[in-house]
Amino acid sequence: MQVKYAYLDQQFAEVDEYFADLRRLVASGEFTLGPFVEEFERKFANYLGVKHVIGTNTGTDALILALKAVGVKAGDEVITVPNTFVATVGAIVAVGARPVFVDCDDRYQIDANRIEAAITKRTRAILPVHWGGCPADIERIVSVARQHDIPVVEDACPAVGAKVNGRSVGTFGKASAFSMHPLKPLNVWGDGGIVVTNDDKAAAFLRLYRNHGLKDRDHVEFWGVNNRLQPVQAVVALRQLDKMHEIIETRVANAQRLDAGLASLREFVQSPRRPAGYLEVYQLYIASVARRDELLTHLNERGIEARVHYPIPLHLQRAARDLGYRAGAFPVCERQAREIITLPAHQHVTAEQIDFLVETMRGFYNA
Ligand SMILES: Cc1ncc(COP(=O)(O)O)c(C=O)c1O
Repeated sequence: MQVKYAYLDQQFAEVDEYFADLRRLVASGEFTLGPFVEEFERKFANYLGVKHVIGTNTGTDALILALKAVGVKAGDEVITVPNTFVATVGAIVAVGARPVFVDCDDRYQIDANRIEAAITKRTRAILPVHWGGCPADIERIVSVARQHDIPVVEDACPAVGAKVNGRSVGTFGKASAFSMHPLKPLNVWGDGGIVVTNDDKAAAFLRLYRNHGLKDRDHVEFWGVNNRLQPVQAVVALRQLDKMHEIIETRVANAQRLDAGLASLREFVQSPRRPAGYLEVYQLYIASVARRDELLTHLNERGIEARVHYPIPLHLQRAARDLGYRAGAFPVCERQAREIITLPAHQHVTAEQIDFLVETMRGFYNA
């Protein structure tokens, strides 16, 4: 039995409704910003429960814009976590700031209890990541940040729909970024990003900066860039947003079935703690396993496309050599990097496939 990691061919097997919308777009000739992007921004604001939504080209752009909107400048420090996709750190460096890492907690998220010790006079933002679609301890992070009067920018790129005590991630910080990359829960036909904020001043900056700083056709308020969300992607995203509830429900059901199946392998496999009130969207289903590399080969050879996100933490990448971190600096993150595995549990995996996955793991451990 095959259990695939990528599912885009299945997800978009039926495309007639999207093509009908795209025909409307082409007939309108509204190819830069315009009504489709605006409709998506309104609809996403409503979905998330946030005041301002600004569509961008990518999640990475959304992060860069969010950092700029809260005032991060060259020479500032931004606190984040070393087990994330490279874009989190790339965005910090892109605005001229220095990434300062904090170790992970037992849920593979930034350890909120270690943030305070990393704050210096230069700290200009805290950038937690809702890694793998699992909410970081955002209430505690916001409380620490408030005590020090430092803005929080959430990297919610993998986490559209995730919630803490009923409130969507991305609405806790001063500004937050989402990605609509094809392998994110809310996905489009290429790249797409979203930056959100409840702050009117930040929103006014973001709207202009994303579009060359143009107030109107002839007036430039300040120098900006072109980071606009493509209307073609807004058309796809509008349809996808209607499906989010069902997508998340299926992912949660799959994750619960996997958690239950893996509970019998507790000696070898540990799923992370899942606190009450935290709604995860399982962009990645991550667990810690014994003999990880052997298990990975075993699963892959049997048609189960397991992966590792990621085997090398960012502070140990060549790109980080100027930051001065050594192996051993973040022991929890480094241990997790050796133990974690990503198992397919997305919305196109069936209950039968999950049972096969659990059985295959049981076979590996002779359990
Ligand atoms: C945690 C995280 N941050 C940032 C990004 C960047 O998003 P994008 O690929 O849309 O630029 C991604 C995903 O790719 C991500 O997983």
